[in-house]
Amino acid sequence: MKDVLSAIQPTGDMHFGNYFGAVKNWVELQKKYECVFGVVDYHAITMPINYQKLRNNTWELIFNLIAVGIKPENIFIQSLVPEHTELAWILSCFTSYGQLTRMTQFKDKSAKSKEETKDSFVSAGLFNYPVLQAADILIYRPKFVPVGKDQEQHLELTRNIAQRFNNSVSKEYFRLPEALFTETPKIRSTADPAKKMSKSAGEKHYISVFAEENRIRKQVRSAVTDTGKNTEGQMSMGVENLFELLKATGKLKEYQSLINDYNSGNLKYVELKDAVADALIEISNDFKEKKTEILSNKKDIKNQIKQSSWEIRKIAQETIKNVKELTGLINVKF
Ligand code: AMP
Ligand code: TRP
Repeated sequence: MKDVLSAIQPTGDMHFGNYFGAVKNWVELQKKYECVFGVVDYHAITMPINYQKLRNNTWELIFNLIAVGIKPENIFIQSLVPEHTELAWILSCFTSYGQLTRMTQFKDKSAKSKEETKDSFVSAGLFNYPVLQAADILIYRPKFVPVGKDQEQHLELTRNIAQRFNNSVSKEYFRLPEALFTETPKIRSTADPAKKMSKSAGEKHYISVFAEENRIRKQVRSAVTDTGKNTEGQMSMGVENLFELLKATGKLKEYQSLINDYNSGNLKYVELKDAVADALIEISNDFKEKKTEILSNKKDIKNQIKQSSWEIRKIAQETIKNVKELTGLINVKF
């Protein structure tokens, strides 16, 4: 058993929304708990993607995770632990079909998939995705799952599946995992504060943690502040987002002093933007330095991750053995 499990899809760059919304918390949790973090490549193939790029994206994300402070021994690659898919099949038999049809991420992603491929094909894999996610979680029987707010519905489904399984086999085998949210569960796009910062909305809607200094500054400098739509006296979403970002970087003195300027009507947006850009660049430079070190040592790191996946797999194998025992499936050690 582990205390904490979370996962991220290898769909490209890591941005400050991922970092402040989830990954930074993972780094902290490692200090207190037994943690495992999955790079979930089986999930990445539920959408139309460039298959030539997937393997590279998986390694790139792993290097990024290590650069920001995730311990290599806590990372596994989902497709190196095939028991996840085995458990997903078994759990699908304890999953309500009706509940799956109500998953909002499925509705959003199937619409997006249709739009991108310009045909009506939506994979059954995308529909079953939340069951695989439930398997990712339950296979380690964790107490906590640190995620952004968008994953709340999937966590609720996971608890329902665990409960139905436990009731059916008359044993409290699976622990019911709890979602853990951060203080910044939603970072907004600086280009359009009505949207969340995300890779899928397009390049200008996310600031990469590993972007060039100039790009970060340019993106922050061009952040939308007042759109003219907000009611007088209320902070606009764009300005609020910049303050949220500054707070998330830990620059609390600057944050307080700029908030005071805002309250007294003396805030110059360019000063707020420069403070945010400086703080993000400082964090980014630190991570980039670590990443350079990592990239000079790629081969060893890849071997280390294969090894950690192998170690973590032992827990998954133990769970499958127990689950087969409880459900009457044949258990043979080959
Ligand atoms: P994804 O990149 O969608 O696989 O998300 C990885 C993790 O980052 C998940 O736990 C998300 O909930 C979280 N996350 C993604 N975008 C944001 C955002 N804009 N603000 C806060 N958290 C986010
Ligand atoms: N669905 C999650 C996302 O879109 C990724 C994910 C897959 C996940 N399996 C998980 C998150 C297990 C937490 C636990 O971000």
